[in-house]
Amino acid sequence: MNQDIKNICCIGAGYVGGPTMSVIASNCPNIQVNVVDINPERVAAWNDRDIANLPIYEPGLGQIIKKCRGYNLHFSTNIEENISKADLIFISVNTPTKTSGIGAGQAIDLKWVEESSRTIAKYAKGFTIVVEKSTLPVKTAQKIKEILQATSANKGVSFEKKFSVLSNPEFLAEGNAIKNLEEPDRILIGGDDEESIKALAGIYSKWVDVKKILTTDLWSSELSKLIANAFLAQRISSINSMSALCEITGAHIKDVAVAVGADKRIGKYFLNAGPGFGGSCFKKDISNLIYICNHYGLYEVSEYWQKVLDINNWQQRRLIEIILKKLFGTISEKKIAILGFSFKADTNDTRESPAIFICKKLIEEGANLYIYDPKVNNNQIDYDLKRVLEKSFHEKDLWQCCELIEEATNNADAAVILTEWDEFKKLNWNDINKMMRQPAWIFDTRSTIEIKKLANKNINIWQTGFGN
Ligand code: UDX
Ligand code: ADP
Repeated sequence: MNQDIKNICCIGAGYVGGPTMSVIASNCPNIQVNVVDINPERVAAWNDRDIANLPIYEPGLGQIIKKCRGYNLHFSTNIEENISKADLIFISVNTPTKTSGIGAGQAIDLKWVEESSRTIAKYAKGFTIVVEKSTLPVKTAQKIKEILQATSANKGVSFEKKFSVLSNPEFLAEGNAIKNLEEPDRILIGGDDEESIKALAGIYSKWVDVKKILTTDLWSSELSKLIANAFLAQRISSINSMSALCEITGAHIKDVAVAVGADKRIGKYFLNAGPGFGGSCFKKDISNLIYICNHYGLYEVSEYWQKVLDINNWQQRRLIEIILKKLFGTISEKKIAILGFSFKADTNDTRESPAIFICKKLIEEGANLYIYDPKVNNNQIDYDLKRVLEKSFHEKDLWQCCELIEEATNNADAAVILTEWDEFKKLNWNDINKMMRQPAWIFDTRSTIEIKKLANKNINIWQTGFGN
């Protein structure tokens, strides 16, 4: 069916839906884009006049919102009406790992996707293209199709409905989302209806070179996203595993990464050693891949990918042991500054942030944490730590959030840099060190400090992958 897209609805105003729809609205002024969400607070935050109050922090997003919101970009809780008006609907809702039942800890909980599909089936009118935007297990499109067909075939539906389901995974990385969306490496569209694929490709072709728009079948598209994330995470576990070897042998992981990455076949990106990967995708997607492989009896394959997760956990445990060792085997009642709580720089997202596990362990060892992050709000930090710590640790005053870096570092026994925020790279560690309780240690897990440029060569600095 030939489809001229004039009205888009996106279900889910999260880290993926919000920025993606903003960039579509910005590049397609003739299309009305309605982003809907069941969470009224989130919608209100998207509609806040003050751009600083948007629910997510993403460089460049504010300007686009200012330009498009109220013109062709709208955020609302009016799900039914916006679905019924839409020619094309993106599903961009939560897809967390199941926490109980069969597949707990590995399989994706498709509750929100199913719910969205049922709502679409109920309220959509005429021919509607339904696009999976969230990362989903392979074959989910089949489930969406079945729900759409079964529900729309129900009695009492007075108008004709027809659906085409496409997979169009999002490859944006937080902190770079707007750049990734404006200048994507590729756009991937999977489906079996040529006209619908053409209609979706037509939207992207308004600003993306058509050579970058790849089309394939549904299952290859769904799987490509999982596999791309697994490959990226694998690089991080590879470099982190080697960071330990560098520390023992006196080599420097940064130099090794440059030398290794100079080979075009390997490439220079994604070779930064650190406290392990976080974020909403890598752990979830690899766990899901492991679950799928086990389901199909590919046990050797699932074991291979399990190791990528194991190394990530090991890297974080290793860091705790190093901190303890350097601080004379005990951190009980010692003041430790935590610099950075988000899972990477330029985002306020803390999902699966290495900081959560590392802070938990330091608190359990009795340390007093003073946590500073330029964008993560204090409530989020409290929520994340209370979620992972046993109740007995909640009542004690074992962590506090700081408005200023000095508040965290003054008189501290150690500072642990966990996120590579730009402002940490500019810190004067000679001055900060003077204000710390000696002998103080700085654990620079992201290698933000250029040690060679420090005036005082006697500051105790430990960096991931730097052997002496
Ligand atoms: C990732 C994928 O990059 C993106 O394509 C997909 O759509 C969603 O998942 P994201 O999780 O937002 O994006 O960020 P990414 O830049 O991939 O970083 C993930 C984690 O790996 C972060 O904790 C980051 O600090 C860490 N990382 C990344 C490293 O430790 N070293 C690196 O060299 C790169
Ligand atoms: P992502 O990082 O994939 O964007 P988020 O958790 O940031 O994930 O966002 C998902 C959004 O989807 C949330 O704001 C949530 O309220 C919304 N959502 C979940 N289920 C539905 C639904 N059935 N209808 C509308 N919005 C939904």
